Amino acid sequence: MKITPSTIANSPRLTVIGTGYLGATHAAAMAELGFEVLGVDVDPDKIERLSRGVLPFHEPDLPELLTKHLSSGRLKFTTSIEEAGAFGDIHFIAVGTPQKEGEGGADMTYVDEAVSAIATSATHDCVIVGKSTVPVGSARRLQNLVESVKRPNVNISFAWNPEFLREGFAVQDTLQPDRLVVGADDDTAITALREVYAEAILRDTPFITTDFETAELVKVAANAFLATKISFINSFAEVTERVGGDIRTLADAIGHDARIGRKFLNAGVGFGGGCLPKDIRALQARVSELGLDRTMAFLHEVDNINLRRRERVIDVAHSLTNGVNKKKIAVLGTTFKPNSDDVRDSPALDIAARLYGQGADVRVYDPKGMENSAKRFPRLTYSESLEAALEGAELVLLLTEWQEFCEMDPVQIALLVDSKTIVDGRNVLNRTNWIDAGWDYHALGLKAVHAAEVALV
Ligand code: UGA
Repeated sequence: MKITPSTIANSPRLTVIGTGYLGATHAAAMAELGFEVLGVDVDPDKIERLSRGVLPFHEPDLPELLTKHLSSGRLKFTTSIEEAGAFGDIHFIAVGTPQKEGEGGADMTYVDEAVSAIATSATHDCVIVGKSTVPVGSARRLQNLVESVKRPNVNISFAWNPEFLREGFAVQDTLQPDRLVVGADDDTAITALREVYAEAILRDTPFITTDFETAELVKVAANAFLATKISFINSFAEVTERVGGDIRTLADAIGHDARIGRKFLNAGVGFGGGCLPKDIRALQARVSELGLDRTMAFLHEVDNINLRRRERVIDVAHSLTNGVNKKKIAVLGTTFKPNSDDVRDSPALDIAARLYGQGADVRVYDPKGMENSAKRFPRLTYSESLEAALEGAELVLLLTEWQEFCEMDPVQIALLVDSKTIVDGRNVLNRTNWIDAGWDYHALGLKAVHAAEVALV
């Protein structure tokens, strides 16, 4: 029997399975929208912390939302999938799909387990909604899995509803999404999700309903496009570094063309994080499986350009210090972007670790990323403040554009360092101010403009 919209409760109770960046944010945001929400995770430590209102990662505005809805009673957490199965009318799947060890493809183990577990545990008619980023074809396979494991008297509708939130803006992006995409092949899931997202729909947020494959592909296409945009400008940075020219002006100038747009054209050390790098690799792996090897081959170059930016910083560091061995290098930033404590595939941390590996005396500082960085690379020197990292530095590398770094006063900073040499790895500093304060200012995508001009050519 097919379930109908009327078999799902009027004010549905929600569960969110997986309480990482995506799941914890989704759970708290759904509580903010007025729903009763149960967050589920297999990690008892995470659940214990979340239940006490302690967020296991840094995300602006989320701690407040978490506390608010633990108090309102609308948000609870559990490790029990049986409890979730008895509680929920709509179950969101928000577990990770990391890159497989030693391969480009996505590891679907957690998604498969979560879907299977909730489908088995559901005690009444419900909807399962996948939010994780998955290889195309997964939703249809998972729908069959649900049908094969669910209890015979329970009807389960299935949908794919990809998530587009950015770390650092996760709450805002979830509560005010710029579009909602739902892949489904029955009305029950669509009706249920219209109710969940009623507020956004009332504000005229596009609500796009489609098939499973399109919904899955929308997500990876968006991330692949963003990654391509960044590598596109970074490939021009390689040219301007060689011939002269100014990558920031170039980006501004092409960005004025509304068809191109200025966003995601900031040249620098490139993209990292838990999404863009792994998603472009997983997409290539998936299309290869489909026999379309050449189709996404350009993404291989996108990845290569991105990784070359890291090598470029290391080369520049060598030439500015006459070899980095035993040189004091201040690395500002370890997270993959500001307003996050996430160091997954972070260009900044990768560069710091490689310089350390080449004998440099690396002192790193990051406003929120120290703990996660130290877990990955315990042997780097972690300074307790920006000033401590800069003290006696022979070279300063700005690798993540935290506001604290963007606002540094070149005159004050000059008093701390041994050599006034800086590489602006994110193209965020006011170059004239730094040069006027006597610094050798270097940036990715900019031919050397001051004393050490020769070093970069
Ligand atoms: C990205 C997408 O932007 C989200 O829409 C998507 O939902 C998310 O992945 C996901 O798949 O979950 P996020 O990983 O939070 O979000 O980070 P972005 O803001 O996209 O930045 C990615 C990387 O690109 C960062 O390392 C950033 O520093 C770099 N970047 C960004 C540049 O190097 N230049 C730019 O102009 C913009």
